Amino acid sequence: MQTFQYFTPTKVVFGKGTEEQVGELVKEQNATKVLIHYGGGSVRKSGLLDRVEASLQAEGIRYVTLGGAVPNPRLSKVYEGIKLGRKEGVDFILAVGGGSAIDSAKGISYGIPYEGDVWDFYLKKSLPQINIPLGVVLTMAATGSEMSDSSVVTKEEGWLKRSAKSDLGRPKFAILNPELTYTLPEYQTMSGCVDIMMHTMERYFSHETDTKLVDAMAEGLLRTVMQSARVLLEEPCNYEARSEVMWAGSLSHNGLTGCGRKGDWACHQLEHELGGMFDVAHGAGLSAVWGSWARYVYKENVARFVKFAVNVMGITENAEAPEETALAGIKALEDFFRSIRMPVSISQLGQDISEEQIRELAYKCSFQETRTIGGIKSLNRQDMENIYKMAR
Ligand code: NZQ
Ligand code: ZN
Repeated sequence: MQTFQYFTPTKVVFGKGTEEQVGELVKEQNATKVLIHYGGGSVRKSGLLDRVEASLQAEGIRYVTLGGAVPNPRLSKVYEGIKLGRKEGVDFILAVGGGSAIDSAKGISYGIPYEGDVWDFYLKKSLPQINIPLGVVLTMAATGSEMSDSSVVTKEEGWLKRSAKSDLGRPKFAILNPELTYTLPEYQTMSGCVDIMMHTMERYFSHETDTKLVDAMAEGLLRTVMQSARVLLEEPCNYEARSEVMWAGSLSHNGLTGCGRKGDWACHQLEHELGGMFDVAHGAGLSAVWGSWARYVYKENVARFVKFAVNVMGITENAEAPEETALAGIKALEDFFRSIRMPVSISQLGQDISEEQIRELAYKCSFQETRTIGGIKSLNRQDMENIYKMAR
């Protein structure tokens, strides 16, 4: 096991009706004026925003609201939030929504006290030194942004989707009421399940072998999310299944399953370019490229793919032919993605991409040929192009 730091400062408040506690939780943070940030309106329609506002009012906390964080949230909205937050003198930000509202809120939280351009943090030109603290009322189990150190934002000019990472971005609290996810469309629920699985798989596919405890946690998490996703296909309002998925979402991206090893993250990097250029749902973009990535790299560590096939996908090991077992595991996960109506190719995402677009995706993903990605296998621009072609 490699040396590691594990830092999860987020207070988790989990269960039915927990959003009623938001006023108290904000008060604990000594906030005097809050910016409530949300997405395209699902939280207004469901009545959640009214309940959140009532809870703040009951504690005598002043607030302003800003909606409009779109999926693959935009930099222009972050700028708008920074301007509003400064004008109103807010000292706390409350994100109410899914990963996009949270990530946009994180961008705003970094930008308010920063004199330069907040995009600097996404270009890694600078690291946030201070921020406005934030809290979350989560409505979609997927990104784990409610506990993670990341914010992923898209700059409209050039359609670049980039992430900024800082422990300052980890929310002070996260309210997780699984019932709030009942209203999600099936596509978003399943896309969320894929994203949750991928956050653990990006950590699991590693050359480090001495990680028995986190391997077992990761395998259990993956099996649980698959079982729960199958239940939710039939019963979207099954509280137990929603609960398992929601808690898995937070644990999948708060660092737990990555302790003691270096992850891979190539699929996330490949997907971020698809999300930036074609505005696809993040989890769906991940399932569209995963199988191609796996077949491209599995020979670098057949044993790890065999372990995944046996312990996660329930494949019977053929000790005489490990590659066969590894490939059967890859196929089994693709079959699972199909079964929950998630795409396993870019064309199934509804994108008919040209050779030129593939070159552009790979060029952007390699940061104009200045970086490689991946841990199981280091991938250069040409490898990225090959994988996008396989995934087409
Ligand atoms: O905008 P509203 O109207 O709220 O509708 C949203 C949106 O259309 C809807 N929705 C959310 N909760 C709902 C609901 N509809 C009905 N009922 C509810 N309870 O679902 C749609 C998708 O929401 P979004 O927030 O975009 O989804 P998600 O949580 O998957 O976030 C995706 C973004 O997060 C980034 C992704 O790249 C993408 O930009 N990620 C952030 C990470 C992080 N910060 O740690 C890590 C991830 O790997 C990921 O990159
Ligand atoms: Zn993700």
